[in-house]
Amino acid sequence: MTMGKIDTNETPIHSATDLRSFAAKTAVTVLPGDGIGPEVVGAAMAVADAAGANIAWEIAEAGAQSFAKGITSGVPHATINSIAKTGIVLKGPLETPVGFGGKSANVTLRKLFETYGNIRPIAELPGIATPFAGRNIDFVVVRENVEDLYAGIEHMQTPGVAQSLKIITQKGCEKIARLAFELAKSQGRKTVHCATKANILKQTEGLLKRTFEAVAVDYPGITAKHMIVDNCAHQMVIAPEQFDVIVMTNMNGDILSDLAAGLVGGLGVAASANLGDKVAMFEAVHGSAPDIAGQGKANPTAMIQALVMMLRHIGKFDVAERVSAALKETLKIGTHLTPDLAKGVAATTAEFTQAVIAQLTATQRVWSGRAYAPVEMPKVARNPVTVTPATRQVIGVDVFVEAADTAAQLGARMTAAGAETGFKLKMISNRGTQVFPAIGGEVDTVDHWRCRFITTSEVGGVSDRQIMALLACVSGTDRWMHVEKLQQFDGVDAFTKAQGESDNALPVTTTPLPCAA
Ligand code: NAI
Repeated sequence: MTMGKIDTNETPIHSATDLRSFAAKTAVTVLPGDGIGPEVVGAAMAVADAAGANIAWEIAEAGAQSFAKGITSGVPHATINSIAKTGIVLKGPLETPVGFGGKSANVTLRKLFETYGNIRPIAELPGIATPFAGRNIDFVVVRENVEDLYAGIEHMQTPGVAQSLKIITQKGCEKIARLAFELAKSQGRKTVHCATKANILKQTEGLLKRTFEAVAVDYPGITAKHMIVDNCAHQMVIAPEQFDVIVMTNMNGDILSDLAAGLVGGLGVAASANLGDKVAMFEAVHGSAPDIAGQGKANPTAMIQALVMMLRHIGKFDVAERVSAALKETLKIGTHLTPDLAKGVAATTAEFTQAVIAQLTATQRVWSGRAYAPVEMPKVARNPVTVTPATRQVIGVDVFVEAADTAAQLGARMTAAGAETGFKLKMISNRGTQVFPAIGGEVDTVDHWRCRFITTSEVGGVSDRQIMALLACVSGTDRWMHVEKLQQFDGVDAFTKAQGESDNALPVTTTPLPCAA
């Protein structure tokens, strides 16, 4: 049954399951956070306590206060220890210091505890008017949370050319793909989409697509579908009700999960979970809202939604359902809404929170949700994971060179350098498009060139010594800043071609020029 429909059955306030779960307190680390954080986190804690969630809260510090004390990661040791002990975090928004080199405490927390799965439920809420209201939107975005461009490995390769490495691992793909299927299983969802840019980024995004398709075989009861990510953005807007679960790499998921939140009321009401093997962290999607901090204007809906996700994660399903129902009733009744949602007189954060708490104990109709079960975290071997092909060989090398002259001039020098050292220059590309030998068109070049050398050896196989000799030769005339080996694993090229690059290698030059020392 889909969320957002009213079920007329009435439920007793405390079920037998709840009474059993009351027996043991669950320890949870709370990070009140910055700006409106303490207000909305306080509201969620009050609701949890009133609902009888039976939680032992451990208040810990992170963010602005920690930065002010000179803790450059924004996360003190005491907080790290508390999280390592409890494994469950209810987290307020943390400000990222503005300025060059300032680290984000949010990213530190995610990376430190390897919370690789970002889960963002997208479901219509009653009383929240959006252009999509009534469409029964109810899906979950599963975003890989620690890899991709967010590995943050960036370099200025020349004074005018920046590079960021998009790191995607088979292990990371397997973990996130399995998590998406496990989540679907735990919520009785029938379809998992994998949205990638594998048509262009064949190695990186392609790895998620290939891994997703391999993992899908283990989940025969769930339909697995691949979709190009730009079409996914389009489909989310024109037919969002088609989705159940969508899994994506980090940056695609970052962007599309915010788009998805916009379909059901925006960042102010959206919550997310960051799941890892040892730690699960629950938070509102919004930031610290410094413009309204301390004024009683903050809407705690998103934080209460995060609380609901946390309660389900720790197995307190009945309490979670009651809190969720109380929140939805409060939004639907609409008489105690904070300024961001109120049409008439607005309520304060505290008044809204009290209204939710009142709904917990009111004889209420239950907002029937789906039957939730615990998510089985995927068992993927922990470090180190080595992928071993049956065969592998290096067949060439890409040398990245900074040069201010033309493709033809550089081409002549690189052809010579290759011929001296047992390589043929196959091509030179500029920002990914072949420019030497010229293939026509109007490529606007910069001083950053990728020179692709292929071994001239019939039997293949390039030694490191040969690559060093090539580099020594190249550096006689040009400034190189980066090298990539061209490898084949199991006979398959482990690199992509440039735009316009042919399958055929250039003929070997017969008149090698001497290598400038
Ligand atoms: P923001 O989400 O804090 O605020 C954007 C706008 O939404 C503001 O007008 C704000 O008043 C409003 N708003 C946000 N949450 C609200 C709520 N619960 N109730 C009513 N109105 C709400 O985004 P902004 O201004 O870009 O970021 C402020 C700080 O928060 C920055 O330091 C940023 O780095 C940090 N941040 C932290 C996040 C986290 O801890 N997960 C996520 C996003 C931002």
